[in-house]
Amino acid sequence: MSVLPLVIAPDPRLAVCSGEVEEVNDEIRQLLDDMVDTMRHEDGVGLAAVQVGVHKRILVMEIDDQVYHVINPEIIESSEEENIYDEGCLSFPGQRASVTRPKRVKVKFLDYDGKEQILECDELMATCIQHEIDHLNGVVFIDHVSKMKHDMVMNKMKKIKKKLRPAT
Ligand code: NI
Repeated sequence: MSVLPLVIAPDPRLAVCSGEVEEVNDEIRQLLDDMVDTMRHEDGVGLAAVQVGVHKRILVMEIDDQVYHVINPEIIESSEEENIYDEGCLSFPGQRASVTRPKRVKVKFLDYDGKEQILECDELMATCIQHEIDHLNGVVFIDHVSKMKHDMVMNKMKKIKKKLRPAT
C-alpha cells in the first residue's frame, strides 16, 4: 500500500481517454489499494486512475465510510432531474466550481474481484461517480462551466503549479 503522486492541472495527461481493463488481476488490485491510500491521504471522496498517471478505466470513491472500487464503469441510466454541486478535484487543489449533472445515475462496473455490479447513485455519490467517469474520458469538472470560469481556474492553476515545481 502506498500513496502515489498526483497529476496536477494543467497537465496533458488529464485530457487523455483511458483504456478498458481487460482482466482484474493482482496488479489491478494493487493499483486500487494504492489509489484508496492516495485518496485518503489527500482527503478526497473520489479518485480516477488518470490522476495518478495511469490511463486505465478505474476509479475509487469513499462515501459514508464505504469504499467503492469501480472498474470499466458504464452509466446505464441517468435521471432527467439535475443537481448542482460545488465540485472540487484533487488535480485542482483549492479550486471549486458549480457543476450541473443528472441527480441520479445507475452505473454498471466490475468490482475488486472482477464481478459485475450495478450501483444506483444519487446526491453526492451521483456527482462523484460522474465526475470520476469524466476523468476516464479525459474530461475535467471545469469543462462543464463557462469559458470565463474555466480560464480563470486554469490561470490560477498555472500559478499554483509554478510554485509547486521544485527549484532545480
Ligand atoms: Ni477530479
